[in-house]
Amino acid sequence: MNRPLIITIDGPAGAGKSTVAQMLAARLGLNYVDSGATYRAAALKVVKSGASPDDENAVAEAVSSAEIDFGAEGDAPAVFLDGRNVTQAIRTPEVTLAAAKVSRLPEVRKKLIALQRSLAREKGVVMEGRDIGTVVFPDAPLKIFLKADVAERARRRLKQDQEDGRASTLEQTAYEIGRRDQLDAERKISPLVPAPDAVEIDSTHLKADQVVDQILEIARERKLLESD
Ligand code: DC
Repeated sequence: MNRPLIITIDGPAGAGKSTVAQMLAARLGLNYVDSGATYRAAALKVVKSGASPDDENAVAEAVSSAEIDFGAEGDAPAVFLDGRNVTQAIRTPEVTLAAAKVSRLPEVRKKLIALQRSLAREKGVVMEGRDIGTVVFPDAPLKIFLKADVAERARRRLKQDQEDGRASTLEQTAYEIGRRDQLDAERKISPLVPAPDAVEIDSTHLKADQVVDQILEIARERKLLESD
């Protein structure tokens, strides 16, 4: 029996990973997993516990007791923390910043990487994140590193925030993205770098469906699709 297909999509915040990964998963009938949501849920646990995201011991303790699950509420995909739907609550600026901090800790990454791997056991997945092709699934047969100019990423993120009803400005969004890029790239474990065998796609001037078409083309060339 063929192993479930795993496609990894890594890259910085705002490069279009979520849109592309969701479209790709829908086109291929695979599960979609947003690994960033696991770090955000862990960060929410820390925030709720009252611990400072900078206090490593308190963070490790809070996260060790966090139960994080992916599921659905009605038709909509949802993330659960200790049994509560936190899909919206993990998107606040406070949790975003806390996630960038708690994701630097080895204990936190160890727990969440095990969770991410378990999500690909039964069915193939398209999983997006920062280290999915380098650390979580180093043997994945198709790895994409999606990038885009900072200005374009800030513009997209602002649009998404506005659509979701979160108030922000382009200046604030660009600042937050720049700050997170720095935290993600400089951290000692799992820094944001492309896997040596990743295909890099620059989405600055591409629409999401054009990126998806490019990825499908590569998957076909590699004979990864069932119809081949
Ligand atoms: O993709 P996102 O913005 O939802 O990610 C939230 C945070 O989690 C971000 O600071 C980077 C971190 N992250 C990570 O360290 N490794 C991943 N595989 C995914 C996200």
